[in-house]
Amino acid sequence: MSTQRPRLSVIGTGYLGATHAVCMVELGYEVIGLDVDTEKVGRLAKGEVPFYEPGLPELLTKHATNPRLRFTTSYEEAAEFADVHFICVGTPQKKGEYSADLRYVEAAFTSLSPHLSRKALVVGKSTVPAGTAARMEKLMRSLTPTKDVELAWNPEFLREGLAVQDTMHPDRLVFGVNSDWAEQQLRAAFAPMIEEGTPVIVTDFATAELVKVAANSFLATKISFINAMAEVCEATGADVTALADAIGHDERIGHRFLRSGLGFGGGCLPKDIRAFIARAGELGVDQAVSFLREVDEINLRRRARTLELGLDLVDGTYRGTRIAVLGAAFKPNSDDVRDSPALDVAASIERRGGDVVIYDPHAIENARRVHPGLIYVESLEEALLGADVTMLLTEWDEFRSMDPAVVGKLVGQRNIVDGRNVLDPVRWRRAGWRYRALGRP
Ligand code: UGA
Repeated sequence: MSTQRPRLSVIGTGYLGATHAVCMVELGYEVIGLDVDTEKVGRLAKGEVPFYEPGLPELLTKHATNPRLRFTTSYEEAAEFADVHFICVGTPQKKGEYSADLRYVEAAFTSLSPHLSRKALVVGKSTVPAGTAARMEKLMRSLTPTKDVELAWNPEFLREGLAVQDTMHPDRLVFGVNSDWAEQQLRAAFAPMIEEGTPVIVTDFATAELVKVAANSFLATKISFINAMAEVCEATGADVTALADAIGHDERIGHRFLRSGLGFGGGCLPKDIRAFIARAGELGVDQAVSFLREVDEINLRRRARTLELGLDLVDGTYRGTRIAVLGAAFKPNSDDVRDSPALDVAASIERRGGDVVIYDPHAIENARRVHPGLIYVESLEEALLGADVTMLLTEWDEFRSMDPAVVGKLVGQRNIVDGRNVLDPVRWRRAGWRYRALGRP
C-alpha cells in the first residue's frame, strides 16, 4: 500500500459521503464511492448530485469522466480497491427515543469487513455515541479474514450549504487512533489539508467521538442561549438583535451562531444533542448534560411562539386564513428538510385550519415527500398572492431582499412574521405592514 497517496473508498454517499468522495478526487486521490441505494449510485455515476449543495454539481461534472472517480454498490469492489475506507453513513434519531439509530453504521461494518483481506484502515466519520468505535473495532475484527485491519475515528464538521469549502479547507482534523500506523495513514489521506496548515488533533477513540457531539452541543447551546434572551426581550420590550450585536463584540462571545429566531433544525444538531443526553444517561453522567434538555426545549418553544405571533395577526384563529410560508428547508442554501422548523410550523398551521401555501427555492420536492398534504408553489409571487399573513421561516436571500412595497401589492393583508429576524422592521412598518418577530418589539 502506498502511504504517499492511499486509495480511498467512501461508504455512504449522502450529504457527507458524496461531498467527501468528490472533494478527495479534486485533491488528487483515487476514490470509489459506495452506496446500497442503486438509484443514488446511478445518478452519481452519471455526474448528477442527488441533493442540493452549492458548488458540488460543478465539481462532480468536472470529474464525471475522471478515471480516478467511480461509484459502486459492491462492497467486494470497494474492499478490493481501497487502502483507506471512510464510513459516512447516517445515524438518525431512533423513532420514539432519544438515542441514535446505529443500524446503518453496523451494516456498513458488517458488509465491508468480510471482504477486507489485506492491510487496510477503516475510518469512521459518522457521528456516533461514545463507545461505538470500540464496539465496531471488535465487530470488524470478528469478521475480517486478516488481522491486518485497523480502525480510526475521524469526525466530520462540515456544514450543509458550505460542504465543499468545509471539506477542502477544514478548520481542524481530529484523528482518533490506536497506532502510529493508523495516524500515518490518515495524515497521508489528508495530506493536502495538512500541508495548508490545518491543525491536527491526534487522540483516542472516545475523545474523537466526543469532540463531535461536544461541538454540536456547544453550537446548539449558543443558539438556544440567544433564543432564551429573545424570550426575556419580549417580556421587557428589548430588542434581541441589538443585544446579540452588542454582546457579540466581546471576542470571547463572538457574533457567530448568535442569530436568534425560529431556532435550529436539520439532520444533526437536534438529534445529536438528544443522542448525547441518552448516552450520558447510560454512562451514569446524565446530570452533566441535563442542560441540553433545556437547550432542546427552548429551541422547540421557538416554533410554538412563531405560531402565536402569526395567530396574533389573524385575530386568534388560523381557520379560513391563507398563510404564505416562505421556506421549507431547515436553513438556506440547503434542500434538507429533516427536522425543519419551517416545515414544522407550516404543518402546525395547517392542522389549525389555515390554508398554508409554501414556497422554497430548492426544498419543495423533499418537503412534499414528508408533508404531501400541504400546498407547494413554484414562485415567491404565487405564495404571496392573497395571503393574510406572510411567514418568513427560512432566510433565503430571495426572501431577505424582498421589497415591502412591491410584495405588499401581492398579499391580501400586509401582515408579516419574520421568523429569522432578517428584515428591517422600520422599513416594513413604514410600507404599511404589521411586523412581528421573535424577541423584537
Ligand atoms: C451542523 C454543524 O454546524 C456542523 O459543524 C456539523 O458538521 C453538522 O451539523 C453535522 O453534525 O453534520 P448543519 O446542520 O449543516 O451543521 O447546519 P448549521 O449551519 O449548524 O445550522 C443548524 C441550524 O441552526 C439551522 O437550522 C440554522 O438555521 C440554525 N441556526 C444557526 C440558528 O438558528 N442560529 C444561528 O445563529 C446559527
